[in-house]
Amino acid sequence: MGKRGMHHAATFQANERFELAGIANVSPERLEAAAAKLGVNVKGSDAAQVAGAVRPDVFCFCTPPHVRLEMMQIGIESGARMIAMEKPIALTSAEAFEIRKLVEGSGVKVVVSHQHRYGAHYRKVKEIAASGALGRVHTVYGTSTGWMMHMLSHLLDYVRWFNGEADAEWVMAQAAGRGKLADAHPSPDYIAGFVHFANGVRGVVECGAGAPDVPEVEAWWRKCRMGAQGTDGFAEVLTGGGWRAVTKEGAASGQGSMNYDLDMPPYIQEMADWLDDDERVHSCHFGSAYKGFEILMALCRSAAGGGQVALPLGEPADEIAMLREAVVDRQVLLSMRENAKEYAA
Ligand SMILES: NC(=O)c1ccc[n+]([C@@H]2O[C@H](COP(=O)([O-])OP(=O)(O)OC[C@H]3O[C@@H](n4cnc5c(N)ncnc54)[C@H](O)[C@@H]3O)[C@@H](O)[C@H]2O)c1
Repeated sequence: MGKRGMHHAATFQANERFELAGIANVSPERLEAAAAKLGVNVKGSDAAQVAGAVRPDVFCFCTPPHVRLEMMQIGIESGARMIAMEKPIALTSAEAFEIRKLVEGSGVKVVVSHQHRYGAHYRKVKEIAASGALGRVHTVYGTSTGWMMHMLSHLLDYVRWFNGEADAEWVMAQAAGRGKLADAHPSPDYIAGFVHFANGVRGVVECGAGAPDVPEVEAWWRKCRMGAQGTDGFAEVLTGGGWRAVTKEGAASGQGSMNYDLDMPPYIQEMADWLDDDERVHSCHFGSAYKGFEILMALCRSAAGGGQVALPLGEPADEIAMLREAVVDRQVLLSMRENAKEYAA
């Protein structure tokens, strides 16, 4: 019942296929305010109790990133047919492995909120990349000024999408700045890395203080640029600034800015579609989010330990602890002055 929980609750309520059966929050004030706004009677501070009382078809949780495994367990024990969760799916590979085991063992359908995919400008870039108009795609890229645990799973999800969801074979990365390692979305202040995909495509990603400005976009959190380059052209999306492409046919561009009101309804509708029909797998299904998160963790391992890291990952690890151990205690260098508000010493 925080920011994202309210988005989800309101969008479930607005969809005729769903009924909002109950809500939970550890904060009584938040819970009461949400219950009054949503008009829901079944509520409580203990998610397990609420889920046990309503036995939902869909168990949705939008908690901070450190609350994941116990919520997955509660969702599965409640008998829900689907669990809808927020990104990132975990904070470490050790936790992600546990969650994957639960998902595979229970057979429950799981979706992860990488809902930017529904933006008209994101879809346009996907459509162009998939149409063959770029020739042979050789590079996909994504940058964001927001930090890793907020933004990198988004970037990786969308560049994987532009690259036909190809598997990654290895990564290599560097990280700088310790400030955000203490954040609720623990991250190095800056991480930059390369991803080698099995289809030969190169991924290049950057998140945080040193990532390049996106001068076309005003809003700081929307300074994200993702795209695909091929032998015949390129197409890219800016989270807060539309899309553009150059192909053999010429140059084209269009509007679009990330908008929860537009992105959430189709994200929720696809949940109903998948529940109705096993063949209509949700675009944001767990398997896809897991692949992106595994790349994220590999990038952290490389940044902490050096060298290339092969995928899939073998043994579980605590990558955030590895970064806390390894990232040099030196003030991060900024790519633009506006970044000082988040990454100053
Ligand atoms: N997909 C997106 O575009 C997007 C955007 C913003 C945030 N997020 C993600 O959504 C998640 C939540 O972010 P937010 O901005 O809504 O945070 P928030 O702080 O506004 O809300 C989180 C809520 O969870 C509650 N909570 C914590 N532990 C709980 C528990 N055990 N049981 C019940 N409630 C509990 C808190 O009281 C709080 O109200 C994060 O993982 C974040 O990364 C995703």
